Formats: sequence, C-alpha cells, structure tokens
Amino acid sequence: MRKEELKQAIQEEKQKRGVTVLAHTYQEPDVIDIADVTGDSFALAQAVQSLSAETVLLCGVRFMAETVKMLSPEKRVLISHKSATCPMAEQIAPQRVAVFKKEHPDYAVCAYINTTAALKAECDVCVTSSSAVKILSRMPEKNILFIPDRNLGGFVKSKLPEKNIVLWDGFCPVHQQVTPADLLPLKETYPGARIAMHPECPKEALALADMVGSTSAIMEYCLQETGDVIIVTERGVADYLNREYPNRRFIQAAPEKLICADMKKTTLQGVYDALTGAGSCEIDLPEPLRLRARKPIDRMLEYGG
Ligand code: 13P
Ligand code: SF4
Repeated sequence: MRKEELKQAIQEEKQKRGVTVLAHTYQEPDVIDIADVTGDSFALAQAVQSLSAETVLLCGVRFMAETVKMLSPEKRVLISHKSATCPMAEQIAPQRVAVFKKEHPDYAVCAYINTTAALKAECDVCVTSSSAVKILSRMPEKNILFIPDRNLGGFVKSKLPEKNIVLWDGFCPVHQQVTPADLLPLKETYPGARIAMHPECPKEALALADMVGSTSAIMEYCLQETGDVIIVTERGVADYLNREYPNRRFIQAAPEKLICADMKKTTLQGVYDALTGAGSCEIDLPEPLRLRARKPIDRMLEYGG
C-alpha cells in the first residue's frame, strides 16, 4: 500500500475497531498524522484516563505503554512495535534496587518515569523530567537515590543542595552523546537563538542551555519565545515544531546523534498491523505488579507532579 492509502486504511481500522491512537512527540511526522493524541510520556498516560475508547494503541516505547496500563487498567493497551524499548528504562535489574533499599533503609528511591513497571515497583516515588525538582523538593526524606539517569539526577541535585541525592550511573544513550562542541558552532551561526535542552543531556552541555525541560516544557518554551530556538533533544520535537509552525525557525542540534532508534521503530505498517491484530502486542501487567508499580506514581501525584 502507498503511504497515503495506508494512512486512510489506518483511519478506517481505528474507527471500525474503536481504537484511539497515542503518539509520543518523538514519532515520525507520518505517525503523528494518524494519531488522535500526541504529547510527552506522562501526558499521554494521563490523557487516556479520560478517553472513552476501550482500546488504545501507543506509538512509542514499552515503558510508556506500561504507564498507560498502570493508570488505566480497564483498557486494552497495545504497543505498535513489540521490541521498542527505552534502553535507559532497562538499565537496572529491579533486584539491585531491592538490595540497595535493604542496605540503606534511610534512603527513599526515586524513579524517573523512564523505567520498567518492575523497576517502579521497587521505588518510593516517580518523577517526570519536568516535575523532578518540584517533587524531590517536597519529599520529607533528605537521602534520596535517583535512578536511572545520572544526567537528570545531576540536574535535580544541582537545584536542591539541601538534599543528599545519590545518582545511579545510568543514562540515555541518545541524549548522552551531546557535547558543547555540537552547540558552540550553532551559537555562532545563530547568535540570537535561545537553546532549549532536555535534562537527559550531560552537564557540560546543560551548562550552555537557556532553558532545560521535558519534551512538553521545551515545546511550551518554544511557543512563548518569538525568535529562533536551538533544540537539543530527540529530532522528533524540532520536526514537529517546524511542521506545525512553518513561519518560525527551530534549529535541530546534533541531528545525526539525536535520533532514538527505538522510538523510530514505529512505522505506519506496524500501526496498521497492530490495529488489525497481525502484529499487535498487548501490554499485560499482572495486577499485583501493576498495584506496586502504581504506588510511586500516586506519590508523585500527591506531591503535585
Ligand atoms: P518525556 O517524558 O519528556 O516525554 O521524555 C521521554 C523520553 O524518552 C525522553 O528521552
Ligand atoms: Fe529512552 Fe533516550 Fe530513547 Fe528517550 S530518547 S526513549 S530516554 S533511549
């Protein structure tokens, strides 16, 4: 099938089967085109709670689909590409966190939302990249182990010197590659441009940012600014903004590095196959695991996340 025919067929299957399609902003423009809801990982999970559809299909990576299922267990949650996982979310075996907690009973463990359900189940609180500083500042515990991202954790630590934050040595293999050498020439070429960066980038790069925030925070910032913005996160964000706002200029930093191969596994054919049952992967979280993994998310919400 040609691309436009495939898009039409997807729309028909969605309607026939009553499926709502969610796409993370990192998805390719063609996938964004056939989505009903787009946004960052936690925003998508929250959006599903008020949808009437009994089945949702997530275009993104597995931890995102798991988070949807955690918040909406009554829905059937499908992921469009079975093997699309976030390498950072899988960097720690849950048992290692259980061992840390046993050895350090005076520490709370904070999980970035980019973690598997099995890992969240071992943690005390969850955070997103936009809520992390606020949530940790509101926690009564002084001693906190932050998993898995040392860059986001380091950024939060720099903002909260009153806390004793210990960092796990994990990282996002995509954002971790950004260096000041990727940014300095862009600053020279576009002297008036602001730099908006995801906190999964290393601290040497973060030092050059005018704004540090999550996918949605970067997009909001870009829309508030009137001038050019250099975007330092996965390419999907600048692709999206440049398409939606053709009269503005959003400059992609390190375009050859900032591509998440797992996020880009989703294809129109994969979405069609998932909808028609040919390649679908239903997220199945045993209820005891779902309940344990949901607790840190509820705690995040209690703290205003
Ligand atoms: P958001 O939570 O900002 O959507 O980010 C997800 C992600 O994978 C960042 O690399
Ligand atoms: Fe995971 Fe990084 Fe890809 Fe985001 S960009 S899904 S953190 S590997």
